[in-house]
Amino acid sequence: MTEQSKISKSIGCVDRRSFLILGGSAVTVLATFGQGADAQELVSSSYAHKPIGKMSALKPGVPVSFTYPNDDIENILVMLNEPAGGGIGENRSVVAFNTICPHMGGYLDASTFRPEISVLGPCPLHLSTFDLTKHGMIVSGHSAASLPQIVLEQDGDDILATGVMGLFYGYNRNPSGV
Ligand code: FES
Repeated sequence: MTEQSKISKSIGCVDRRSFLILGGSAVTVLATFGQGADAQELVSSSYAHKPIGKMSALKPGVPVSFTYPNDDIENILVMLNEPAGGGIGENRSVVAFNTICPHMGGYLDASTFRPEISVLGPCPLHLSTFDLTKHGMIVSGHSAASLPQIVLEQDGDDILATGVMGLFYGYNRNPSGV
């Protein structure tokens, strides 16, 4: 018996297969807990409810700027020409997104919005472009994250911002505005 196998027996080591299974389980548990905590953080944060516009004032394809949840965080509100994930209004086409690129903080000017294909971008730094019909999912460029989407609710003609999906660039925790 080699010295290594003696040590292995004396400390009750598991075999390689069991080790890999246990190790994999531990990683899965950690990953699950980590994702759960992060997801819970993002979902359960208590955000301010803030009126940001009137449904009757929106023109299809024309973005309107607003700040939320804090006064220094700029976003756009826009009525797309098609239904969108998270969209409100008659056609579920009214959405709102942050204008700071989640890759490295490039400014996504509202003038880069292209109504004919419902995308925002390209970002001036590394050309990331985001699909506003699919929760800000990247369609080209360097960003590994989607563009943070502002959660909207409708109250009659009023449009309210009520939360954020995703993490704003430069923050390790979104401000809540409350
Ligand atoms: S900062 Fe926008 S793509 Fe890099």
